[in-house]
Amino acid sequence: EWGENLFKVLERKELAPTEYEILVDAPRIAKKAQPGQFVILRIDEQGERIPLTVVDTDKEAGWVRLIFQVIGKSTAQLATVMAGEALMDIVGPLGKATDIENYGTVLLVGGGVGIAALFPIVKGLKEAGNHVITILGAKNAELLILQDECAEYSDELILMTDDGSVGQKGLVTQAMEEVFQREEISMAWAIGPSIMMKFCTLTAQKYDVPIYVSLNPIMIDGTGMCGGCRVTVADSIKFACVDGPEFLGEEVDWDEFVNRMQQYRPEEMMANDRYEK
Ligand code: NAD
Ligand code: FES
Repeated sequence: EWGENLFKVLERKELAPTEYEILVDAPRIAKKAQPGQFVILRIDEQGERIPLTVVDTDKEAGWVRLIFQVIGKSTAQLATVMAGEALMDIVGPLGKATDIENYGTVLLVGGGVGIAALFPIVKGLKEAGNHVITILGAKNAELLILQDECAEYSDELILMTDDGSVGQKGLVTQAMEEVFQREEISMAWAIGPSIMMKFCTLTAQKYDVPIYVSLNPIMIDGTGMCGGCRVTVADSIKFACVDGPEFLGEEVDWDEFVNRMQQYRPEEMMANDRYEK
């Protein structure tokens, strides 16, 4: 359903250096979106399609909250769209929703800008009656986003930074070890850089705890047609846009995924270079 034209940006905020939050007027999507789902937006007719997780919604006010990091030409352009201006297209909600139920005690791990995609799952699992333990990691205090929001829906919140500027100094996987040693965890989720999700999976496997990860490969159409978001899961080809974005970590072919994510980096940086000049 492309072409439901002009989605007004109601608010825009810089959350951290190069990380922005926008509230977009999109009542139909706000009504339907579930935790784990995403949208694909286009700024204008020439624009690339940008996939972004739906971080939060207000069904009555009709807005969706989106958070993005400037990593290339398109996201740099998105950062220039101000409150009061409009986006040409938003399609969604896309992808499978998170399986929200009462599991007992759950562990949620978010890293960097991946915390934005983790938050709706934290909220959904808390509202479903789980005992929620959340670990958030970032390079430093400035880059640690949605701390208050996650605290509101967590029974326990552990903060980790690479430099120790807030919480404990260390990686999220160190905090995971500490939690697994003292708690009986029924189910876990990890969202962040691919290398983080790979190591979170290995850590959860050590303790026999199933863990979901959210894969964010390059997406184009978001409907399973273009094949751009192809990933190998449980030895078969899956499309992150329709079969995911969540998959069981132990079934993901991490070497292939991490490799493919790195391949796109140089092209993205080149496009960004041209945009800035
Ligand atoms: P970052 O590099 O600052 O990492 C965040 C945290 O991840 C670190 O503080 C650390 O605790 C943990 N981490 C990193 N490497 C680790 C390792 N080897 N072992 C254990 N833990 C490790 O995060 P950032 O710069 O905000 O990350 C941006 C990346 O996140 C982009 O590459 C983007 O594609 C990805 N991302 C993924 C999703 C998703 O849905 N999976 C969503 C948004 C962003
Ligand atoms: Fe095209 Fe998934 S984005 S198949």
